[in-house]
Amino acid sequence: MQLIIQKRDPVDISLLDEYLNIKDLRVFLDNEAVPENYSGLILHCAEGGLSISCSGNKSASPTQIHFSSDSLQYRLNTSKRSEGLLKAIGMDKYSLPLHILDGTAGLGTDAYIMAAMGCQVSMVEKSPIMAALLNDGLKRGINSADPLQKSYLQRMTLHFTDVISHLKGIEKSAIKPDVIYLDPMFPAREKSAKVKKDMALMQKLLPANDNVAEMLDMALRTAGKRVVLKRPGKAKPKAMKQASPRPEFQVPGKACHFQVYLTAQAGSQ
Ligand SMILES: C[S@@+](CC[C@H](N)C(=O)[O-])C[C@H]1O[C@@H](n2cnc3c(N)ncnc32)[C@H](O)[C@@H]1O
Repeated sequence: MQLIIQKRDPVDISLLDEYLNIKDLRVFLDNEAVPENYSGLILHCAEGGLSISCSGNKSASPTQIHFSSDSLQYRLNTSKRSEGLLKAIGMDKYSLPLHILDGTAGLGTDAYIMAAMGCQVSMVEKSPIMAALLNDGLKRGINSADPLQKSYLQRMTLHFTDVISHLKGIEKSAIKPDVIYLDPMFPAREKSAKVKKDMALMQKLLPANDNVAEMLDMALRTAGKRVVLKRPGKAKPKAMKQASPRPEFQVPGKACHFQVYLTAQAGSQ
């Protein structure tokens, strides 16, 4: 994979250090022109924040994290009625504030929905590019004029690390997250143009997860109440019965479903 960094203004890109050290990555810094024949990702560091685009898709606007975006606002306005995610994490079962650990934060959209519903959300993201985009979105959002958005974002924190080592670090601690939410990378699934563009970029940038079993195992050892694993496609009762470990139940979502595991600590809740 190739990545060009266009750095027009002084922006804090310290999170990208690790990325810049990856050997097989071709990185152009500052205002160096993007070669005509370049086909790869371009990270734009500008006064308005960080964004990322794909050189092959000139018509698409770069992807930037906006917690005030129309799509996120729409999802927020309809989520109380229709979000499988909220049912899956047990919003209708437990009292607030629920502490959620979102182990695969990505663009932070699921985390934002959960925070807007009153949850405390610790996000974990291992990709330095995604973590930088997310960090940038959080910083811009927290400085926005919208008091509601600010209050939601104040309930969100970001840890730039691998979720498995993060969970190992808190496994024995007295304070554990109530719910661990995992949404690993899997092949293209969503249909809307906006999501498609963002997902296509993520798929270029990030490998599909081949360690879901290990993530799930660590999460089951650590979550206080439940673990929620997002999976592609419709829920299939037969597949659920055959799964190991077997989820307690499944909740349908949009083009996906959520597998819910109750942990031993949850007892009769
Ligand atoms: C499908 S995306 C998550 C999308 C997210 N739920 C949202 O609302 O935007 C998966 C994300 O998990 C991250 N990820 C994959 N494996 C991880 C790991 N072991 N630790 C932390 N993050 C991981 C990927 O870098 C990617 O950003």
